Amino acid sequence: MVRRSSTFNRSRIDHLRNDIELVYGDLGDSSVLNQLMRSIRPDEVYNLGAQSHVRVSFDMPEYTADVVAVGTLRLLDAIRETDLRCRFYQASSSEMFGKVAEVPQTEETPFHPRSPYGVSKVFGHWITRNYREAYGVYAVNGILFNHESPRRGENFVTRKITLGLGAILRGERESIELGNLDAKRDWGYARDYMEGAWRMMQQERPDDYVLATGETHSVQEFLEEAFGYVGLDWRTHVTTGERLLRPAEVDLLVGDYSKARSELGWEPKVTFRELVRMMVDADR
Ligand code: GDD
Repeated sequence: MVRRSSTFNRSRIDHLRNDIELVYGDLGDSSVLNQLMRSIRPDEVYNLGAQSHVRVSFDMPEYTADVVAVGTLRLLDAIRETDLRCRFYQASSSEMFGKVAEVPQTEETPFHPRSPYGVSKVFGHWITRNYREAYGVYAVNGILFNHESPRRGENFVTRKITLGLGAILRGERESIELGNLDAKRDWGYARDYMEGAWRMMQQERPDDYVLATGETHSVQEFLEEAFGYVGLDWRTHVTTGERLLRPAEVDLLVGDYSKARSELGWEPKVTFRELVRMMVDADR
């Protein structure tokens, strides 16, 4: 399902054009969701739709809540009204842990979201559980920690760094402006994580699972790894700006994926270093 836009933004799925069919819709429009459920009658629905940028959610809190929180409810309700056998995957997020209550975070760690985005994802998480418990929908929450790839959106920190580094190497620019370099994230490879999401949907019974690598690295470490790989010193090419700081920050995320390992047989395959290098190579 894609949103109508006056400019095309589908380069990341161009290579799949002959294998998939796109339909117009919007998580803000329940009549379309209901109509699509009735006409397509899907076996599985993956809800990855969102206003997914944490910083932007402070600028557009109501829109973020409408799409991320109520949008999830709209989709679940379309399933309830049309076909209770349709399986539902909810992209829950490690941002729900926010100001973390324990380290590492598991499926049982209490939530303390720190942004309108995180708060909206908590609603999405619980409404997914609620439809499972109340109506018996096969509905799972994949609590995914940050997952990256060369297709990462251009204003998330990893891609911003590798895109900027590519431009620096080509002599197109001198520096990259960033915000908080001390934040620590558990960064994995998106392809590994999507395989995990699919596995969650093939189980006998629906449940919630953390997908993570179990390792955490600061933004500064990402810079060191990326610039070090091409023989440059990040300190001469990075500036920091107040405007890129968040009103409330999530300082540290690191996940425990033991449950996914034992019940889904899932394990991340790509290491932090391999991930950084893959992204640098793609953008240089
Ligand atoms: N985007 C961005 N831009 N982040 C920066 C910058 C910058 O210039 N400078 C420092 N950071 C810091 C942020 O403050 C944050 O602590 C960290 O880098 C990661 O920011 P993002 O890459 O924007 O990702 P995120 O962790 O906020 O959220 C992502 O991961 C979540 C899963 O935990 C998004 O993909 C969410 O949609 C996802 O749910």
